[in-house]
Amino acid sequence: MRTLLTVGIMITATSTITMADSSYLSHERQSELIRLVRQDCGSCHGMRLTGGLGPALTPEVLKDKPAAVLLSTILHGRPGTPMPPWNGFLSESEAAWIVDALQKGFPDAR
Ligand code: HEC
Repeated sequence: MRTLLTVGIMITATSTITMADSSYLSHERQSELIRLVRQDCGSCHGMRLTGGLGPALTPEVLKDKPAAVLLSTILHGRPGTPMPPWNGFLSESEAAWIVDALQKGFPDAR
């Protein structure tokens, strides 16, 4: 019972965060982010995000990784690797939106 309750609370908390993030970003900004990820991130992670110079960014690979680590990787890069920091281009909410979208399955450019 206790486990079920905890899981329920966690799911509720996660969906609240997700909703807050996507309502914060306009549809237009979301479309820009989708293009940015497909083009700029795709140049290393592959046009289908299935890997290239950088690793695949598919839900299969990312869904069990902590969102906070992925968020920090996008904002600050991984020193010593080709993964660059994006905090000059993306706000924290925008990077969080990208992490969430990647973990669910990234939408195609519109
Ligand atoms: C210049 C090449 C390059 C570009 C451009 C790039 N990445 Fe990366 N990225 C990498 C490499 C290489 C790694 C693996 C770093 C390591 O060895 O830990 C990585 C790692 C990551 C990871 C961690 C993956 C994991 O499984 O832990 C995420 C998330 C990520 N990148 C997202 C992005 C996003 C989002 C963008 C665009 C905003 C982007 N990357 C642009 C090269 C790149």
